[in-house]
Amino acid sequence: MKALILVGGFGTRLRPLTLSVPKPLVDFANKPMILHQIEALKNVGVTEVILAINYRPEVMLNFLKEFEDKLSVKITCSQETEPMGTAGPLALARDKLVDGSDEPFFVLNSDVVSEYPFSELITFHKSHGGEATIMVTKVDEPSKYGVVVLEEETGRVERFVEKPKIFVGNKINAGIYLLNPSVLDRIELKPTSIEKEIFPKIASDQKLYAMVLPGFWMDIGQPRDYITGLRLYLDSLRKNSPSKLSQGVHVLGNVLVHESAIIGDGCLIGPDVAVGPSCVIEPGVRLSRCSIMKGVKIKKHACISNSIIGWHSTVGQWARIENMTILGEDVHVGDEVYSNGGVVLPHKDIKSNILKPEIVM
Ligand code: GDD
Ligand code: MG
Repeated sequence: MKALILVGGFGTRLRPLTLSVPKPLVDFANKPMILHQIEALKNVGVTEVILAINYRPEVMLNFLKEFEDKLSVKITCSQETEPMGTAGPLALARDKLVDGSDEPFFVLNSDVVSEYPFSELITFHKSHGGEATIMVTKVDEPSKYGVVVLEEETGRVERFVEKPKIFVGNKINAGIYLLNPSVLDRIELKPTSIEKEIFPKIASDQKLYAMVLPGFWMDIGQPRDYITGLRLYLDSLRKNSPSKLSQGVHVLGNVLVHESAIIGDGCLIGPDVAVGPSCVIEPGVRLSRCSIMKGVKIKKHACISNSIIGWHSTVGQWARIENMTILGEDVHVGDEVYSNGGVVLPHKDIKSNILKPEIVM
């Protein structure tokens, strides 16, 4: 089977992290977002993943080369010269997606995390005889998403409304699809939205089906959702592979620490923390609800909560970093500095307090 991952967009909502790498390569739970997806696809027998890209393809491909060999999945790129939206890229990659067979293919938004229940999706898709299956999930705030109204017994989609202004329902498009090649006949080679132009038509032809996604789901394309997504992901690890989580007197709740990270004496870490490769966490540090990316150094007695610390940054001793502070790559925060929601661009030195949420350039 084949899969296409929609990788376009500039990831502006995840700046400053996306100033260093394209959004799908931003680490989530110690691994680039897109690798979680590629590994799950490989596990259900996908042999080729096509990245639909309109931004810095060479960065993605160079990075993923290593994983192509490791996972033995072919990873190719379909490059747009102008942004083609969420359906146009499928038309552009048509020849790569279909090889004469009638086999369905996967399409994924690159910024969604879940348990990726792809084998359940395949089984359901084969059972209903429609053209397309989308995964849906329940959320509290449906207006940010594509809302799906379905017939409960069969899963047939009655309506698909992208980002509705008035309440339509609370089941939303999770950005995970399985499509028959015939769907490609509905898409012209021009910028097109699959959510606004294609799904509503397939639904009115009564050929669109939806399956409620078991387990957790999150779009992690914004910092607050990224931190929530980390909590949900770690909860799910606790249920499904608890041995991957850290244990010990310094651990509180669900914590993922890379084997190459060093944790000093008297630290208290958790809940909902990921500490990446080669990090050094000095004695007495307090970490909760945060993501510490590769190569970061946190000095003695610093306290970090609800924040993301980008690659190779350092946080000084007794510093306090909180309230959705996002440090870009290679940021250096001085001793005893306080950050309340600072969003700091890469390669900065922060010597004075950031007292309210603001962008530091
Ligand atoms: N190749 C390519 N070209 N990809 C694109 C383009 C483009 O022009 N525009 C967007 N994408 C990719 C994004 O990188 C992302 O992976 C995916 O398409 C969806 O775009 P977002 O910008 O993240 O959309 P959204 O989050 O507002 O809404 C979408 O996702 C929701 C679930 O997270 C929609 O699919 C909603 O219906 C859905 O509920
Ligand atoms: Mg999104």
